[in-house]
Amino acid sequence: MVLLDGKKTANDIKDEITLEVASIRKNGGKIPHLAAIIVGSDGASQTYVASKVKACERVGFNSTLIDLPEDITEEQLLHEIEILNNDTDIDGFIVQLPLPKHIDEQKVLMLVNPNKDVDGFHPTNVGRMTLDLPCYLPATPYGIMELLERYKIETSGKNVVVLGRSHIVGRPISILMSQKRKAGNATVTLAHSRTQNLAEVTKNADIIIAAIGIPDFLKANMVKKGVTIIDVGITRVKDASKKRGYRLAGDVDFEQVHKKAAFITPVPGGVGPMTIAMLLKNTLLASKHN
Ligand code: GUN
Repeated sequence: MVLLDGKKTANDIKDEITLEVASIRKNGGKIPHLAAIIVGSDGASQTYVASKVKACERVGFNSTLIDLPEDITEEQLLHEIEILNNDTDIDGFIVQLPLPKHIDEQKVLMLVNPNKDVDGFHPTNVGRMTLDLPCYLPATPYGIMELLERYKIETSGKNVVVLGRSHIVGRPISILMSQKRKAGNATVTLAHSRTQNLAEVTKNADIIIAAIGIPDFLKANMVKKGVTIIDVGITRVKDASKKRGYRLAGDVDFEQVHKKAAFITPVPGGVGPMTIAMLLKNTLLASKHN
């Protein structure tokens, strides 16, 4: 079994970006600038956004964090997005999801200028991705593809089963891996909560991407020997034995499944750091375009 070390791979990518930024700086070019909007005080979201800002510092980007209260109106939030759309120093920005229930997520994402949409969530970027056109790829699927590629895991002609049809991970990774591209050319099955005989489906998979947000869902009796496992889940599960009161659990029962896997991502330290690295890559791309 080989552990797919997302933390190390993400650090390699960050080192590559750091070198590029140093060269931009030396040549008097524009330093990439990422902004992040966060609404409310959800602990996990706050942690993710803080990691994104810290990663900017690490590679030499400029960053701006816009921390808004839970009770902000939709109109006020849309106004903040307009400001970022019009700020010529900001190359790209993200709105951390989920948003509070009183805010229409689609309306918010639709307002982001597609040229600054480094999360790749705007319908223009989703449509362009679907049509194999140049675009910003959503960071988590992009990170998964990059991890598969850097570990030279064959995907061409393989059976890939994606668990979960979310707009952020499941749906886009199912599209990307079916495309004619690096880490693509797979035969993809997108399984979800209505899928019947799920274990029969997953047992046929060469590669499983689990993105459903149910801790320890995938068990050893649901996979074949030699499978590659990408675990996107990262749920806080109460655990009194831990100082912070919780543990981070993936969608895969790692203790069971790793014994049958050829390759597997850990949680934490797998997909999470890759998401951040790819967001930086998208921001660098945006700063070159803008
Ligand atoms: N919430 C969970 N994943 C993501 C992500 O990749 N981007 C944003 N903006 N919010 C998220």
